Amino acid sequence: MASGHDGSTSVLAVRNEPGLDTTTAEKTHRVELPYEEYSAALARRSVRHVLRQWNLAGIEDDVLLVVAELVANAVVHGRLMEGSGTKGITVAIGLRAGVLGLRVQDHNPARPIPRVARAGATSGRGLLLVTALSSGWTSRPSDDGGKAVHVFWNLAPDLGTPAQPDALPRAS
Ligand SMILES: Nc1ncnc2c1ncn2[C@@H]1O[C@H](COP(=O)(O)OP(=O)(O)OP(=O)(O)O)[C@@H](O)[C@H]1O
Ligand SMILES: [Mg+2]
Repeated sequence: MASGHDGSTSVLAVRNEPGLDTTTAEKTHRVELPYEEYSAALARRSVRHVLRQWNLAGIEDDVLLVVAELVANAVVHGRLMEGSGTKGITVAIGLRAGVLGLRVQDHNPARPIPRVARAGATSGRGLLLVTALSSGWTSRPSDDGGKAVHVFWNLAPDLGTPAQPDALPRAS
């Protein structure tokens, strides 16, 4: 699928893949997005949908904020060497053995480095958010010459439990 601005062709590819950095992932989902500002919103929507399918809405706010920060970083900082291999930014999530993994891959081999933002600075805090909202993250070179940022969350046992509507307080 080609990229474009008309909204109908903005997602380059969506596919389930056999593994997220590992062939033993229990569930995975992957989406490829163009180097455009709107990709952060598309990635959020795609990941939100999958988290709800996986009964992981309890961790949704943190994961979606991290997704938005990392896709924004890929759009702003990650475009070098575009064209080798995949066309766009790849966002993949996977669930295995109580750990949720997120991978955001772009075409710039330079690795993200958390900055110490000056008090008055209006940027430079995205990776600090990623650190605060996840169990951990790292970045690694990818096969196409770029790199991938890997984030993981150790899930609390009850996050994987389907919602119990009967347990919710009733509206008066
Ligand atoms: N995908 C990336 N590829 C290459 N360098 C990156 C990438 N993401 C981040 N960086 C580098 O790490 C620095 C820190 O990233 P961070 O997200 O914390 O701040 P920012 O993107 O500069 O600002 P903000 O996220 O607050 O808008 C960036 O300024 C950039 O130099
Ligand atoms: Mg940033």
